[in-house]
Amino acid sequence: MATIGQDIVQAKTILEAGELVAIPTETVYGLAGNALNPRAVASIFETKNRPSFDPLIIHVPSLEVAEDYVSEIPAALRKLAEEFWPGPLTLLLPRNKIIPDIVTSGLDRVAVRVPNHPLTLNLLGQLGFPLAAPSANPFGYISPTSPQHVDAQLGGKIPYILDGGLCKVGLESTIVGMEGNEVIVYRLGGLEVSEIEKVVGEVSVKSHSSSNPQAPGLLESHYAPTKPFIIGNLDDLIKEWHGKDMICAVLSLKKRFSSIPDEYQIALSPKADLKEAATHLFSAMRMLDSSNAQLILAELMPDEGLGKAINDRLKRAATKG
Ligand code: TXA
Ligand code: MG
Repeated sequence: MATIGQDIVQAKTILEAGELVAIPTETVYGLAGNALNPRAVASIFETKNRPSFDPLIIHVPSLEVAEDYVSEIPAALRKLAEEFWPGPLTLLLPRNKIIPDIVTSGLDRVAVRVPNHPLTLNLLGQLGFPLAAPSANPFGYISPTSPQHVDAQLGGKIPYILDGGLCKVGLESTIVGMEGNEVIVYRLGGLEVSEIEKVVGEVSVKSHSSSNPQAPGLLESHYAPTKPFIIGNLDDLIKEWHGKDMICAVLSLKKRFSSIPDEYQIALSPKADLKEAATHLFSAMRMLDSSNAQLILAELMPDEGLGKAINDRLKRAATKG
């Protein structure tokens, strides 16, 4: 079983030996290995059961170090890095040959980010290589936002989980790249599009497609609980499913429902703060998924700010009819 602790020296030793460590970031926990060691990277795919066509993000301690692994940083993306790193922003940049093919699934661009977590920044600063790290969950399941989430599913497969507490943002990073002169958002995430637009002007969002060749990992069905997960108007859904005598769990922004026992309902933010809702989203989905309920009913958030990224996750989690 994995040891859970805060020992950076131990984490470093394990990573230098080509093994894996789960690392905290402000977004979600990552399953990290030496990005320059193809065997370590292969074991990330294996541990997660992740298909090899879905490339990984490399994590570095600074913009300066990022330059060692890319051939160029377009001016607009450099501005974003200067403004938002360390933070929940991943940039797709033309890769330098030092990055093994297995990291990018053979694509010409590598995804790079500087995570904003003191333990992980400290660790990255002491390593002589970047860390390839997807979210530390089995492929397709809900991303982990605590060391216990990682331990529950991957604890038997990895030696060490670096304990950085609960993730403050709670949603994966926003992924941004360029096509010609245009800045494109490929995955909505913890950095709001409006923040990006303040720095580089208007951008296009291309996050909704399983057939998008630029981001093969953005599969339509993802972040999915094991129980049926149904999105809609909660009053209507409760009437329908509770009425059929099904044990329903309910995920709302702030509303509570008198017909549903307390242990089967979670309001993500009683004051309707979308940032708070984002922080709680994945742990709430996991909690309801492990309850005795037979299905989970959920509502979409207001379609603004982080609500857009939350809604993206809810829709991908939803049971397809
Ligand atoms: O917040 C995050 O980004 C977390 C933490 C651990 O840093 N990581 C994360 O990794 O969410 P993952 O592997 O679960 O999601 C990465 C996404 C995938 O959808 C993948 O397809 C896309 O990034 N991606 C990675 N490299 C890419 C590339 N070269 N071109 C296009 N898409 C890429
Ligand atoms: Mg993931």
